[in-house]
Amino acid sequence: MLKYEFTKEHSLTCKADIFAIGVKEDGEKKPGILMGTDGGTEIDKALAGIIKKIIKEENFSGELGKCKLIPTHDKIFAKNILLIGMGKPADLTLESLRTLGFKIVETANSIKASSIGLVLNAEKFGTLKSEERAQALFEGIVMGGYNFTRYKDPKDVEKDTLALIKIIYKANTAGVKKAIDLGLEMGKAINYARDLVNMPALDMTPVALAKEAIAICKGTRLTCKVMDEKEIKKERMELFLTVAKGSANPPRFIHIKYKPAKKAKTKVAIVGKGITFDSGGINLKPTRHIETMKCDMGGAAAVLGVMKLLPLIKPNVEVDGYIATCENMVDGKAGKPGDVVKSRSGKTVEIVNTDAEGRLILADALDYVIESKPDVIIDLATLTGGVLYALGEIYTAILGNDQKLIDKLIESSKAAGEPTWQLPMEKEYLKGYKEGIADLNNNGKTYAMTIGGALFLQEFIGKTKKWAHFDIAESAWSGEDRGYKKKGGTGAGIATLVKYLMTL
Ligand code: BES
Ligand code: ZN
Ligand code: ZN
Repeated sequence: MLKYEFTKEHSLTCKADIFAIGVKEDGEKKPGILMGTDGGTEIDKALAGIIKKIIKEENFSGELGKCKLIPTHDKIFAKNILLIGMGKPADLTLESLRTLGFKIVETANSIKASSIGLVLNAEKFGTLKSEERAQALFEGIVMGGYNFTRYKDPKDVEKDTLALIKIIYKANTAGVKKAIDLGLEMGKAINYARDLVNMPALDMTPVALAKEAIAICKGTRLTCKVMDEKEIKKERMELFLTVAKGSANPPRFIHIKYKPAKKAKTKVAIVGKGITFDSGGINLKPTRHIETMKCDMGGAAAVLGVMKLLPLIKPNVEVDGYIATCENMVDGKAGKPGDVVKSRSGKTVEIVNTDAEGRLILADALDYVIESKPDVIIDLATLTGGVLYALGEIYTAILGNDQKLIDKLIESSKAAGEPTWQLPMEKEYLKGYKEGIADLNNNGKTYAMTIGGALFLQEFIGKTKKWAHFDIAESAWSGEDRGYKKKGGTGAGIATLVKYLMTL
């Protein structure tokens, strides 16, 4: 378990395996400059100018995240100095601090260090307050230290050694402590969601997901209700049941409720797609697409991650988390292309492609959700592969019916370090969804798959004035390590939603 403490020690007397000092970038190809505000100048003096010499001789540029370890040979109390590139001061963002946190934890573990000391400056850096910087740094440390090792022989797993972070902070620590604790919890909730996504569909079944929901509510002010097939049937969620019926593992509908102590002004519903495995159904996916389809419950994992955080951060807003979870499988009992099914809302849907199943389960989920009249509905879904062609590997697409809500969510996503881009709700593309023998079909023959998916969902939000849809098909899963965003499940959406909920 990673711990931190505020220490009264000085940069020269800080007992730690590593003491981190920042180097800022000073234009292209030039050696960087010691930050100076974090003990670097004093340490350099104590080491007879060796740090400045190394920066110059090795042309250490101070580029963000660049690291160099220098042994101190007992000239100061810390065993090593970690030179860490901070980038250009004007470019420093919360995301830079997450990257720095990741680099710190990576370097510490690489030399089996158990403690690291650093100075946190009490002053603002540009617009960034010390509290915000501390929170982001610790988010990066926790997320950057993530590894999914559950299925490996423990003997073969290299243990993370970093256990203690010593912080020199020359001001009242109360606010910073709160921020760091939030950063730690945020990181942990995201890592929790990553675990859920990374677990094979063999183990992370709809029932297992429902058990997770119950577990995170235990002993907190969250309450949880889980519906089984019979109750789902009673609720007339026939689209949802059609997707589920090809699987040996039964579906579940999950509702988690967070109510603040004071009466809340706003009620927000967050809804997650929880397909624990998407084979495509009878429209079976090809090998290259099917391999990672355990990730198709990324929206559900994000909902659980957010709900898990709410009792800790206590926002003054009522939040209802909903998850429709099932498998989309191939079987003699599976739904067939061409089947027409009546949705919970009463609209009939011709299922022309069984692989466009996310919108089917969400259509019934949204129809259920609108009955309790939330002020805002936000859904998160790994809905369309098309988002890859629209926005590439790392972006989340956002669409919806209220520009103010979308703007607010995009702003939150920036602070959260989760690249998000809006796509237009072009009505023209809805036409194709109205063709065929039913009220709607589930694959409207537009190239704009992501927009089409959102337009389809919009048909089921009733009179809801504020609705936003996050298509996290690409962002919920990373094909490679990208800094603190490790290969596999990413926990996409959690940080953005938490930042948003905290503004209400
Ligand atoms: N789960 C997929 C979308 C997806 C693709 C998630 C890649 C993660 C990575 C979804 O159910 C799906 O198959 N969508 C189809 C819809 C199409 C048939 C209209 C798609 O995007 O191809
Ligand atoms: Zn699918
Ligand atoms: Zn899917």
